[in-house]
Amino acid sequence: MSNLTQSPAWRALAEHRESMAHASIGDLFAQDNERFQRLSLEAAGVYVDYSKNLITTGTLDRLNALARQAGVEERRRAMFAGERINTTEDRPVLHVALRERTGTPILVDGKDVVPEVSAVLAKMGRFVDAVQEGAWRGYTGRAITDVVNIGIGGSDLGPRMVCEALKPYACTGLTMHFVSNVDGAEIAEVLQVVDLETTLFVISSKTFTTRETLANARTARCWLLSTGAPESAVAKHFVAVSTHAEAVAAFGIDPDNMFEFWDWVGGRYSLWSAIGLPIALQIGMDAFEALLAGAHAMDRHFSEAPLERNLPVLLALIGIWHTNFLGATSHLIAPYDQYLHRLPAYLQQLDMESNGKSVTLSGERVDYATGPVIWGEPGTNGQHAFFQLLHQGSAVIPADVIACMQPHHPLDVHHDILLANCFAQTEALMNGSQAASEPHRTFDGNRPTNTILLDKLDPASLGALLALYEHKVFVQGVIWNINSFDQWGVELGKRLAVTIESEINQPGVVNAHDSSTNGLINRFKQRRKQQAESAI
Ligand code: F6P
Repeated sequence: MSNLTQSPAWRALAEHRESMAHASIGDLFAQDNERFQRLSLEAAGVYVDYSKNLITTGTLDRLNALARQAGVEERRRAMFAGERINTTEDRPVLHVALRERTGTPILVDGKDVVPEVSAVLAKMGRFVDAVQEGAWRGYTGRAITDVVNIGIGGSDLGPRMVCEALKPYACTGLTMHFVSNVDGAEIAEVLQVVDLETTLFVISSKTFTTRETLANARTARCWLLSTGAPESAVAKHFVAVSTHAEAVAAFGIDPDNMFEFWDWVGGRYSLWSAIGLPIALQIGMDAFEALLAGAHAMDRHFSEAPLERNLPVLLALIGIWHTNFLGATSHLIAPYDQYLHRLPAYLQQLDMESNGKSVTLSGERVDYATGPVIWGEPGTNGQHAFFQLLHQGSAVIPADVIACMQPHHPLDVHHDILLANCFAQTEALMNGSQAASEPHRTFDGNRPTNTILLDKLDPASLGALLALYEHKVFVQGVIWNINSFDQWGVELGKRLAVTIESEINQPGVVNAHDSSTNGLINRFKQRRKQQAESAI
């Protein structure tokens, strides 16, 4: 038994769960007219109604005791103070420094990093202006019209999601494209539609060693040169965002055309750094600064508000309640906003790469559940696909529904239908409905949701929303006593892929693996050989 599951706060929650065994969310509402007012909170422009969960104030008191026992306040202080809380990589975790635009110093090893952050932002600003105004041109003298971001994971998901979310704020006239998959289909599709003379490639990679990104970047460069462009054209069409200047130079990109960030920025926390360059190229630097300011407002709330009135802490604790005491294994993100359609994919990496861990900070295996599966699609589409399982399936799946009061279009009828569905779903999931004579029409109800409302999806509110989730994930990691900031679990597959790639390219039958892996590799080699022979 771990210290956590033996701890007084954990045991108090386990006992409390027994006492809640027959409770229903609907009954909790019936007993308390003030429940909605008491169990909803607004911070940094993000309003959260968490009343439709199977919780009482007693549940929250016990959860807050767990947070205090786990040292959430101390760990929060340590993160903001630049301490090396990413222990397995021996690094501070300071994405919050990227949004510290008020002049307050943030120290890493005694050195204030805020001036460096400001310098890179200023360089980004000059670059955005130069591209937009046509001072930066392609090698034939034509102005840039298209930007292709080549990156994967955190070097793709954040900028791609934000560019989609903030399309209504696009003001530079540039068309954005994103290529992440090493499946050549993705880059081939993009290269076929852009005019290379007017296209800028942003090669985004924290490490600048990621196989997929380098393969795509090389293909883009070869494609450009294959059109007859001189080698010197690369400098006009390729810029890099990375922490690794030598690797950028080795690839052939002038380090002057590199936008720097730092190892204390985790990949999945990097959209606030120069990794956000595509965002700035789409919405301009002022709006990018507004995104940072929105996140900073949530940072302030998270660092200053008491745990009981702290939105990221509340969402984290409710998630712990679901995962560790009510047995939920997944969590749905359902944005009722088409512009947020990439948010679930982004949050998948944020949450699952952070908290998909089963070893504690001191190296012991956990004996409790950690990060849930995060998944989702926008409403109302999901209602006509998988919501059936939410309503009548055997598993209880907690959900966050996210909606904006004011749309970016004049079609009020559509917006009314959208929000009516959003509210109806949380009501139906909570209350269910009984049809004694027709069991197939019975909905058990008692299915938990948080409703997250923004007045309008704009740079500042989006920044605050994303920071809310970042800090939620952090708090859960602290309680589970895991390192939310490393990702060793992705290394093994990468290593094996390197081996298999070379086996694919060597002659002969492969027999170094299990029979399934050998069989699959050999089948591919054989088919590829047959295809090559029939093409001759
Ligand atoms: O393999 C996982 C990962 O390291 C992510 O954590 C990261 O966001 C992604 O790959 C891309 O890494 P990079 O920016 O170094 O190319």
